[in-house]
Amino acid sequence: MKKILLTGDRPTGRLHLGHYVGSIQNRINLQKEVDEAFYMVADVQALTDNSDNPAKVAENVIEVILDNLACGVDPEKTTYFIQSQIPEIAEMTVYFMNLVTLARLKRNPTVKSEMNQKGYGEEVPAGFLSYPVSQAADILFARATVIPVGEDQLPVIEQANEIVDKFNHIYGEFFQKIKPVVPENARLVGIDGNAKASKSLGNAIFLADTDAEIEKKVMQMYTDPKHINVNDPGKVEGNVVFTYLDVFDADKAGVADLKAQYEKGGLGDVAVKKRLIKVLQDLIRPIREKRDELAKDKEGIMKMVAESTARVQKVAQENMKKMKEVMKIAYFS
Ligand code: TRP
Repeated sequence: MKKILLTGDRPTGRLHLGHYVGSIQNRINLQKEVDEAFYMVADVQALTDNSDNPAKVAENVIEVILDNLACGVDPEKTTYFIQSQIPEIAEMTVYFMNLVTLARLKRNPTVKSEMNQKGYGEEVPAGFLSYPVSQAADILFARATVIPVGEDQLPVIEQANEIVDKFNHIYGEFFQKIKPVVPENARLVGIDGNAKASKSLGNAIFLADTDAEIEKKVMQMYTDPKHINVNDPGKVEGNVVFTYLDVFDADKAGVADLKAQYEKGGLGDVAVKKRLIKVLQDLIRPIREKRDELAKDKEGIMKMVAESTARVQKVAQENMKKMKEVMKIAYFS
């Protein structure tokens, strides 16, 4: 069996370091190992909670593509496409809806917490509540099995696998189980110490941030509120600056030394922050520069994505036909 990777982003804003450690790094590492790789701009999914703001979704399509290209999700290895241009995904979603109960959808922890955050209650758009079903179709239409995602997406993948089981049980073996790939540091805390870095919480460092913006955000980072004088012993645990150094500083021994000094007392926050500023600036600078370069030819990039999307349409048509045969609804073929 061919190893097929598929992953995607909702185009609701620019991507940040949380996305980078959450799944972009895995996309880059895995794209050369698998037989085929797909990158999807999940604009249909973005509309499930942005139906009143379609312009925002449309504008951000190119932005998430630029972010991924700039990071090194290579169009020679990864086929870029846009979800709304593959009608078979919507078609498959309709059939999968019958394999999922309302109670199960309401229990999905990811959907539940996102619903709470948005304060939807019973007024949740049906499309939003059922986005895990549509996400199962995002993956299964391409018969993908390797899915790099952030840790918060695990319940969505679990639900997709229940759909695989149910489908295979009713119609006969057709889909393979899918495998989420999450990194060790799956969830990056925000600069304020909030459990998750996110655009809506305003606590993220973006992949397009300038050196000055990076410096400003690191200087704002939550450290140890009790560490007031340089000579006071400081706390490393829960200290966002050290959390980020653990994730992004390749010099692990250096970070360990720094931690020891900080805990003993005699090391100021600014010194530690200076180190992190440099690490993050060095990481983001080449990404931002490549992004700026690519952004000069947005039209060319959209043309490239149109061509690769057309190839994905063929894949979708073929797999849809096979699925209908399995379901015994291929009446005219
Ligand atoms: N829900 C994913 C996120 O918010 C984005 C996404 C949509 C996705 N469809 C997908 C990820 C299919 C992986 C596979 O990050």
